[in-house]
Amino acid sequence: MRIGVLTGGGDCPGLNAVIRALVQRAIKTYGWDVLGIRHGWSGLLRDEVEPLDLKAVSGILPRGGTILGTSRTNPYMQEDGEALIRAMLKRRGLDALAAIGGEDTLGVALRLHQAGIPLVGVPKTIDNDVNGTDYTFGYNTALSIATEAIDRLHTTAESHDRVMVVEVMGRHAGWIALEAGIAGGADMILIPEFPMGFDDICEAIKRRHDRGKNFSIVVVAEGAQLADEHGRSFSVQSERRDAFGHVRLGGIAPALAEHIEERTGYETRYSVLGHIQRGGSPTAFDRVLGTRFGLAAADLLHARKFGRMVALQGTEIRDVTLEEAVGTLKTVSPERYNMVRVFFT
Ligand code: F6P
Repeated sequence: MRIGVLTGGGDCPGLNAVIRALVQRAIKTYGWDVLGIRHGWSGLLRDEVEPLDLKAVSGILPRGGTILGTSRTNPYMQEDGEALIRAMLKRRGLDALAAIGGEDTLGVALRLHQAGIPLVGVPKTIDNDVNGTDYTFGYNTALSIATEAIDRLHTTAESHDRVMVVEVMGRHAGWIALEAGIAGGADMILIPEFPMGFDDICEAIKRRHDRGKNFSIVVVAEGAQLADEHGRSFSVQSERRDAFGHVRLGGIAPALAEHIEERTGYETRYSVLGHIQRGGSPTAFDRVLGTRFGLAAADLLHARKFGRMVALQGTEIRDVTLEEAVGTLKTVSPERYNMVRVFFT
C-alpha cells in the first residue's frame, strides 16, 4: 500500500511528531510506502510530493512547524479541485491519505471521503476547538507559552501599577484565553463565546482597584466579541477573507486598552502574543499526544476505517467520524466560564 500524508491550515507544534510516528508505523509495522504532500491540499492540486522514508523523519520530533509545509488552500474553491485530486492520487499510485488539520482541513477531508476518496483525519490546532477529541495537539504548547507571557506581564504590571491587556489567539473558541488566564491568575478573561461590553469590563477593573489592588491583568482572545458603548466591535483587522471565508483577526487589545485607560484613568498597556503561540518546539504533552495520534492514524488506515478521525477521549486514543468532528466546534461551555467569573467580579 502507498499512503500520502499532508498538513493543512495554520501550523502548530507537534505536527512533526505526528508525521514521524505515522511514517515509522507505516514503514516498520505495515511495510508501506509513504509520500509527503507539500503545503496541504495545494500539494495535491499541483502535484508537489516527496518520499517520506525513515531518514526524512529522523530527528524531527522536537521541531516546531511542519516539515511538509502547510497552506489554507481549499480545493473546493475551484470547480475541478476534486477531480484534480482524484487524478493525482491515481497518477502517484496513492491508495489512501492521512490529513492532519483543523476544522477547515478536516471539512475538506470529509467532503473528499463522501466523494469516495479513502482517507483518515488527525485533529490539529492550537485553538483546541475540534469536536470529538478532548485535546488537539499544539494546544498545550500554546497554553504554556501564553501562561509564561502572562506571568512575565504580571510582574511588570505590578511594578508600574498598570492594567495590562494580553491578546491571545482563539478565533471562535476561547480555550487558550480561559486556561492561560486561569493558570496565570488573570483578573479578567474575555472569550468569543461570551460577549461583553467595554463599560462592564471597566467597572469590574474599578471594583478590583477600589478593593486596594493597584494593577490588573486582562486576557482577551483575538475573537472576543466586545463592543463599546456605540456597539462598535474591534476584533477584525482585515475584511479580506481566506479560502475558508475567515477574516483576519487582531486589534481587540489596543482598542480595549485605550478604552480602559480613558474610562478608569489607570495607566494601561497591551501585548499581542500572535504567532509566538504557534511557533517553536512542542511541549512533552504535545509530543506524546502527536505521537499517539500518528500511530493511531496509521492503524486506522490499516484497518481501512476511512472517514474517521483519531481522538483523545479521557486518557484513551479512540476514533470518531469526520462528520462528528467537523459538524460543530468545541467551544467553552457556560459552566466552564461561569466557574471562573468569581475571579473577575
Ligand atoms: O490556527 C488557528 C489560528 O491560530 C487562529 O486562532 C488564528 O485566528 C489563526 O490561526 C491565524 O492564522 P494565520 O495568521 O496563520 O492565518
